[in-house]
Amino acid sequence: MYSSFEALRKAFVNHLLAVYDQREANTIFKEVVAVELGWDAAQFVLNKHEAVSEHITHRFKKVLDRLVLGEPIQYITGVTHFMGKDYVVNPYVLIPRPETAELIQWVLDDWSMNNASMSAIDIGSGSGIIPIELALNRPRWTVTGTDVSEEALDVARKNALNLGAKVHWLNQDILNPCLSDRYRIIISNPPYIPRAEAGRMSAQVVNHEPHLALFVDDDPLQFYAAVMQFAKEHLEDDGALYFECHEDYAHDVEQLCLEMGWRTDLRTDLQDKPRMLRVVRVTGEE
Ligand SMILES: C[S@@+](CC[C@H](N)C(=O)[O-])C[C@H]1O[C@@H](n2cnc3c(N)ncnc32)[C@H](O)[C@@H]1O
Repeated sequence: MYSSFEALRKAFVNHLLAVYDQREANTIFKEVVAVELGWDAAQFVLNKHEAVSEHITHRFKKVLDRLVLGEPIQYITGVTHFMGKDYVVNPYVLIPRPETAELIQWVLDDWSMNNASMSAIDIGSGSGIIPIELALNRPRWTVTGTDVSEEALDVARKNALNLGAKVHWLNQDILNPCLSDRYRIIISNPPYIPRAEAGRMSAQVVNHEPHLALFVDDDPLQFYAAVMQFAKEHLEDDGALYFECHEDYAHDVEQLCLEMGWRTDLRTDLQDKPRMLRVVRVTGEE
């Protein structure tokens, strides 16, 4: 038991320094306080000299034990923040990365019209961030989110319900798709890490995030080729396809699209890494 919340904070952050740097440890402590006590930073300051009960000490210790073993805070609290909203997450879905917001913003900037005839499909939706953000920002569009994982679709449905987004959810395997519609926009952040690279990745990611979302058996372009094949048949002539890519493979994905006779624009993210690709048909050459 701690004499005060300030003493609890110091001990908690100190233990976290085994896994995180000081800034990350402070941020994580604030997240835990928000979820466990419902306090924001100002409320913490107001209450920091209060004594901490045994019950609360026990709850913080349980969270700390999981954090020290490398479990991401988002899976412990069950929530992550993305584009100003709270999204539910669990170990069946990838924790959304900030770069994906840049991809979504690119689509929204390109297609500012909120036209009821527009339809968009996201392939590999995970927690649902991409189709949900499109549906919330363009409420007249018909937006579809797909994933091969039923557990991920459950999370995506929950997020759509919590945030009031109208999205059609479909269980689809992009390696063997079974859809007949055509779409103005196709978007995908597919798995792309060759399984052989797992040993060089952070244990936090490899031990906790879903392998179905991260890894491909050996070809990092496998899903990009499948989505391109899907686009060949299902993208409207004046539509566009958007990919999120790993910085190491973005040029290879671009090359694949060029070889298939499409036109590409590769963009860098805020870290100046090539991460986003827009692909359109070359009219008359298909
Ligand atoms: C890199 S995650 C992206 C998740 C989410 N769109 C995001 O940006 O945070 C890739 C997603 O593709 C899904 N996936 C894996 N194999 C698939 C397949 N064969 N067909 C459709 N989706 C698949 C995974 O379940 C995972 O949710």
